[in-house]
Amino acid sequence: MKKRDILVLIGGLIIIAILWMAPEETTKHLPKDEIHSKFYPLVQKEGKKAAEKFCQNCHNKNQIPFPADHPPKFRCIFCHKLDS
Ligand code: HEC
Ligand code: HEC
Repeated sequence: MKKRDILVLIGGLIIIAILWMAPEETTKHLPKDEIHSKFYPLVQKEGKKAAEKFCQNCHNKNQIPFPADHPPKFRCIFCHKLDS
């Protein structure tokens, strides 16, 4: 192997290592259970905004409180993405 080939190889390995270590997206997705799966077709047909109107019927401080450090809550599905 030529010296240049070895350098190219090492460079490639470094790039792969960096991509590998990139942080994973950690925000939980919209669950695909009995409660939430009905929102999937709604999002597809009428868009995220239409579905988001229903979230706070249950997700509010009286029923299912948000974690204390929850970010601002407008547009739930921007952050809680659909499972593919
Ligand atoms: C009928 C009540 C109800 C509605 C409406 C509802 N949720 Fe939920 N949600 C729940 C309950 C109960 C849980 C906890 C149990 C579970 O994970 O299913 C939950 C859990 C979650 C979780 C956490 C899942 C996890 O892995 O811990 C997310 C994120 C979430 N809901 C987002 C949403 C979004 C976004 C909407 C609007 C599109 C929505 N929910 C509408 C009842 C509801
Ligand atoms: C700006 C981004 C953002 C928006 C908008 C947002 N969330 Fe969250 N949500 C987060 C993050 C980040 C967390 C904590 C990390 C995680 O999901 O585990 C979280 C956590 C949650 C949890 C608790 C999950 C668990 O760990 O059990 C629920 C339930 C939830 N969000 C529902 C909602 C609902 C409903 C809306 C809309 C009213 C909403 N979120 C809007 C980012 C967002």
